[in-house]
Amino acid sequence: MNAPLTERPPSNFDLDRIREQFPILSEPVRGGRLAYLDNAATTQKPEVVLQALDHYYRHQNSNVHRAVHDLAERATNAYEGARDRIARWFNAAREEIVFTRGSTEAINLVAYSFLRPRLQPGDEILLTGMEHHSNIVPWQLVAAEKGAKVIAAPVSDDGSLDIDAWTALLNERTKFVAVVHVSNSLGTVNPIDAMIKAAHARGIPVLVDGAQAIAHIPVDVKALDVDFYTCSAHKAYGPTGFGCLYGKRALLDAMPPWHGGGDMIRTVSFEGSTWNEAPYRFEAGTPDMAGAIGFARALDWIESVGLDAIAAHEHALLVEGTAMLATVPGLRMIGTAPDKGGILAFVMDGGHAQDIGTILDQYGVAVRTGHHCTMPLMVRFGVPATVRASLAVYNNRQDLEQLTHALVKASRLLA
Ligand code: ALA
Repeated sequence: MNAPLTERPPSNFDLDRIREQFPILSEPVRGGRLAYLDNAATTQKPEVVLQALDHYYRHQNSNVHRAVHDLAERATNAYEGARDRIARWFNAAREEIVFTRGSTEAINLVAYSFLRPRLQPGDEILLTGMEHHSNIVPWQLVAAEKGAKVIAAPVSDDGSLDIDAWTALLNERTKFVAVVHVSNSLGTVNPIDAMIKAAHARGIPVLVDGAQAIAHIPVDVKALDVDFYTCSAHKAYGPTGFGCLYGKRALLDAMPPWHGGGDMIRTVSFEGSTWNEAPYRFEAGTPDMAGAIGFARALDWIESVGLDAIAAHEHALLVEGTAMLATVPGLRMIGTAPDKGGILAFVMDGGHAQDIGTILDQYGVAVRTGHHCTMPLMVRFGVPATVRASLAVYNNRQDLEQLTHALVKASRLLA
């Protein structure tokens, strides 16, 4: 399912024009140029997304699915239009797209509403050793309650999943498989196609955490035949606090609600209530209308640039960045899998990641430092933390040069 990676993006890929569309990239930081390399934490937003949010609040703001007045109709049409757009992105039906606050909430929804009622003592939930905490803790919570076990497949030294070990861990006790599509800490792209096939051959449903994938790799849920796929808008040039769960319609239809409130019901009485259909059954309360509309606009924007072009550009930067970082004294990369997205994670002799991040900040370079919400992975690599530079479509060679220059300065300070 991964985009074929060419060495260079197509000739009509205009990076300067792309950068101009992100106002924040011209924001001075520490009195100088910003090299924003913290995209795995959150991406910046293009002008069209900012305008869509502004337009919504100026011209459409109202509650959805409730009133008959003109503004309510505009808001409902825009909001449900966003669901159509998002569904099209994943090649899903609109009824299969549940709006959530992000990937984390989407995973929790599946853990509580799908898996919890099915779990028995002794059952196993198979994960990988490179999962984000959001794809570990929800499973631990339901497993602890039901006497089930969470099992993590090992990660190889280069940061790839040990697929033979993962396959050997699938057994008659395995009730569910959850796996990250692209690792936020390493950049590793997991072979989800083969993993879904292997799990399905044993009748095991699969959830893929796509938080770090959708802005970089095309995802066709029908071709993958994945049961659940999750994403967060803010990592794909959209607004914060919004995301979605794709779920196969038959699975969603059979799942009970998990949050109670307005809009998720059909009837309510003090004797008992009945539930709305999916996806509304899982969307209690006033939703994030602007979030949905902004996310749909972000997907339009990605499509206008072209996901293949984005993947090729980021891959070229990854190759270039890897070579540049190899020149920095005392730097060791963490995560060198052959199939890897735009993550440059590393440690340096003599300095804690936090100190290096602080030095980089003085040079206008924004990176994330720490455990990246993947504490088990840090233990696996025997490091307390890493420095992580993560790429997006608007990054350029100058960003990488600024990073490398600052790291060379840091290595001298730490020597
Ligand atoms: N999951 C986000 C990251 O990797 C916050 O930084």
